Amino acid sequence: MSEKKFPEGFYWGAATASYQVEGGIENCDWAEAARAGRVPSCGRACEHYSRFEADFDIAKSLGHNAHRFSVEWARIEPTQGQFNEEAIEHYRDVLRALRARNITPFITLWHFTLPLWFSESGGFERKDSPEIFAKYCAFVVSRLGDMCEHFSTINEPNVYATQGWINGEWPPFKVSSKPWQRSYTGAMIKKRSKIWTLTNYFKVVKNLVKAHNLAYKLIKEILPNCHVSYVKHVHVYLKPKGFLNKIRQILSNHFQNHSFTKRTYKYLDEIGINYYQASLYGVELTSRKTDMGWNYTPEHIYDALVMMSRYKKPLFVSEAGIADYDDSDRAEYITKQVEGVWRALKSGIDVRGHMYWSLLDNYEWALGFDKRFGLVEIDYDTLERKVRPSAYVYKAICEANAVVE
Ligand code: BGC
Repeated sequence: MSEKKFPEGFYWGAATASYQVEGGIENCDWAEAARAGRVPSCGRACEHYSRFEADFDIAKSLGHNAHRFSVEWARIEPTQGQFNEEAIEHYRDVLRALRARNITPFITLWHFTLPLWFSESGGFERKDSPEIFAKYCAFVVSRLGDMCEHFSTINEPNVYATQGWINGEWPPFKVSSKPWQRSYTGAMIKKRSKIWTLTNYFKVVKNLVKAHNLAYKLIKEILPNCHVSYVKHVHVYLKPKGFLNKIRQILSNHFQNHSFTKRTYKYLDEIGINYYQASLYGVELTSRKTDMGWNYTPEHIYDALVMMSRYKKPLFVSEAGIADYDDSDRAEYITKQVEGVWRALKSGIDVRGHMYWSLLDNYEWALGFDKRFGLVEIDYDTLERKVRPSAYVYKAICEANAVVE
């Protein structure tokens, strides 16, 4: 029997995001897009907003000692500059509930959804958006910083900008790619492409960089010892054959994996890594797919961690997971990617934790509720929670702080 042991104090847990699980958020851009019929409605989602205690009991029973969640900007700042203390009190209750169970919180300050007043006035295309965002972040940290040490400013800025300004699948639905193209679900869809949208894409990315850097400075004035990160979606592009494929790989790597971090790394204490898949230009890497149609490549989380280790910051896996309706692949997927994390540690990379995506089944953005990522299954008619068998495989890893074979 061999044992792949993790360092003492390693963080094990799962992640969620406010809009995807809480329910009842109506004053944000995604709710507005649903009212306009452009994305599925989120409605009550998992009602995690009122059921968080019971959900954390499940996380505790599954051996988790860490939990990543996001706070909802639209709840906290429903009108520009007017902060809602009731919402803050709610998130303090959430933090109390985690602490009572000895679960270390990792807060994400913004996970994709924007308050309507902000999105309707231009969102991250606004010149003053970095200041607006940084003020919001500083406010939240001033109110929650006594109960939490890990704050991520932005979840996946590249995915956000690509989906909103290149692919046009998410609010604000601007398209600047090929008129006929594959959506991220793999379907061929027709879109009205406007090449000048691309200038707005670059403007948004620039504002997101500024927003992070400014938020970092304001947060550190308030709480010098906390750990500030942003959460990076890392798509692993393996080394292809052929000149053109190599160029594609270099460009994708630059724009999707490195450009944001290169412009923010001075303002990062740690980096959250979201990993889902690897691909290889010119060749189908594997015919085995997840329910998202993504390559089944859990072991390449190792390459994602190696790639991001060049910034010499502590890393934590902030998301890694699989949509797997019948739970037939999830246990193996988890085990393989946790082994990948272990290999990264063995090669000297400073990885501090692993948070599976997701604790609960949830609202998978433009795809609605069909894709099932949860360790815990949700019956959307009754909202009953049912722990999936794979969750116990992960539990064994969390409790042993090791993969035992
Ligand atoms: C996002 C999550 C999403 C998950 C699966 C990540 O890119 O942060 O919100 O549900 O991927 O698609």
